[in-house]
Amino acid sequence: MTTYNYKRPYLYPKQAEFVDCKKNLICVEGSTKSGKTIGGLIWLLEKALKGEPGYQYAWLAPTYRISCIAYDRAKEFFRKQNIQEVKTSNIAQKLTLFNGTILNFLSGEKPDLLYGVDNQAYVIDEASRTSEEAFHAMTSTTTFTSGPSLLISNVTNKSNWFHKLCNTVRIGKIRDAAYYKIVWQDAVESGILKKSVIENKKRILSKRVFDSLFNCQAYSDASSVFGVDCIQACQIEGLSKAVTVNYGVDLGKTHDYTVIIGLDKDCRVSFYNRFLGSHIKNIAKINAVVKNTPCLVDATGAGDPIVEILRQKCSLLNGYKYSNTSKVNLIENLATMIQQQTIYFPPIEEIIKELESFESKTTAKTGLTTYSAATGHDDIVNALALAAWKYKEQHKVADLDCVMIGAEDEDEGYHDIDDFWN
Ligand SMILES: Nc1ncnc2c1ncn2[C@@H]1O[C@H](COP(=O)(O)OP(=O)(O)OP(=O)(O)O)[C@@H](O)[C@H]1O
Ligand SMILES: [Mg+2]
Repeated sequence: MTTYNYKRPYLYPKQAEFVDCKKNLICVEGSTKSGKTIGGLIWLLEKALKGEPGYQYAWLAPTYRISCIAYDRAKEFFRKQNIQEVKTSNIAQKLTLFNGTILNFLSGEKPDLLYGVDNQAYVIDEASRTSEEAFHAMTSTTTFTSGPSLLISNVTNKSNWFHKLCNTVRIGKIRDAAYYKIVWQDAVESGILKKSVIENKKRILSKRVFDSLFNCQAYSDASSVFGVDCIQACQIEGLSKAVTVNYGVDLGKTHDYTVIIGLDKDCRVSFYNRFLGSHIKNIAKINAVVKNTPCLVDATGAGDPIVEILRQKCSLLNGYKYSNTSKVNLIENLATMIQQQTIYFPPIEEIIKELESFESKTTAKTGLTTYSAATGHDDIVNALALAAWKYKEQHKVADLDCVMIGAEDEDEGYHDIDDFWN
């Protein structure tokens, strides 16, 4: 029999609690960067170390790319522990250990491909961003073995399948199951996150995003994005008379308005116009207003060729294509600026109405968030968001991305995953 010396890396109490849990279904809702993935990997790897030849264990992430990260971390784990892998297959993302147990790192993108295996245990990482179908498929893989499963994730919207499952477990409605919640304070207390980093995050993220990412609070499925109080707090008497430093333009397609919004150097709306018309007329109007001022224009679909034409006369004009992600970034940026009162607009009825009725909706199945008007138009919101994005670009807001301990201080904490496994 092969023997090995295994020493579990340090886990802080809240991590150790779920890693040591003996229940059959373990659900963890945790703040971002609170050590969920590390805890999950240790839970699975320790199970594989105790397994028998041929036993299979699975790690499921929403996408192939995310599961690659866990695969690399697992390989690193065994290397640092001097635990020999017999075989690694990078293409199949499969590790075979010295004891004959097999670890498969999977993606939830095609749930149908997950059926048919017997797993001794599995983890679903980023469960709220993985489809419920993938969870059903994984559940089927432990039917024969009755093996345990661990589901870990950030919190997203209230009707997300994973959040609903967590609630059911939390109130004790599922036998042999346990629920854990790890908020940012736990991670700060444990020393893996810095309080100053969290404070910065609080400043740059909208309340809704901060509460879901760091406080594990699910948000409503359809909720006002900007907040009525915040919209009110950003209102100024009228249009600013100062020089416009940049524009945002949302192009009208068929029945929509084309909206031009300008901002001055203090991020106050200094120009606003909306109109209906043919593409030719719209191009002429935009040219006349924008000239050689920096400008961002919606270049989605039919907007693309229009942007090309506009660029011939407006040298500092660029296009912005809406995709799910780019639209989310654009609107989240505007939401943050409104909630922090760093953008100002006049109390023009249609502007206020559009801002107030702008909603976010998150699909229960995929956890994907989309933004649109609850009723009526959203062209003003889009134009304002484009202008705000351009303004931010020009004024280069410092990148306050999450800084882990060690990235700042040479002497404390971990610099990367290598240091962690050490
Ligand atoms: N017990 C620990 N001691 C020291 N550092 C830790 C510990 N657990 C995790 N970390 C560090 O914290 C960082 C975040 O860990 P991890 O990726 O597991 O968090 P997460 O909650 O899964 O984050 P995400 O929200 O990105 O999924 C990693 O760099 C890791 O090295
Ligand atoms: Mg993670």
